[in-house]
Amino acid sequence: MATISRLHINGRDVPLQADGERQLLAILRDELGLTGCKAGCGEGQCGACTVLVDGKPVRSCITDVGSVAERKIRTIEGLAEKEDALHPVQQAFLDADALQCGYCTCGMILSAVALLEKHPKPTEAQFLEAMDGNICRCGVYNRIRDAVKRASE
Ligand code: FES
Repeated sequence: MATISRLHINGRDVPLQADGERQLLAILRDELGLTGCKAGCGEGQCGACTVLVDGKPVRSCITDVGSVAERKIRTIEGLAEKEDALHPVQQAFLDADALQCGYCTCGMILSAVALLEKHPKPTEAQFLEAMDGNICRCGVYNRIRDAVKRASE
């Protein structure tokens, strides 16, 4: 795959020189300092590395950066629209205390944002389907469900 020279991230064109075959997760964290997405399983199974690409949750650990060079990437760092306020889903996670160690949280929030942008009032089945690929080792799933519910109200 060819070298890429820019990415569109969080509403901005970001210049960068990178082999298109490199892992998107590594580029975001190591080259661009966007460390909200986390390295977990590295195999597309846990959701810790989730970012949004054209509004859809993507596992950045199994995504070549070249495959998203022409697409819109959103990370947790780009969610809040104002300097002094969290995105409503971030705020709902905080209000519902929907985290323990926090390692899965950014991925959880991005999956929840994608869900709520598509289904502002998701059914239980839609919630389960959307969040199915995000694993929380601390097991605070009930509070995560509460947070998504709050964000949908
Ligand atoms: Fe990417 Fe687990 S680190 S899905």
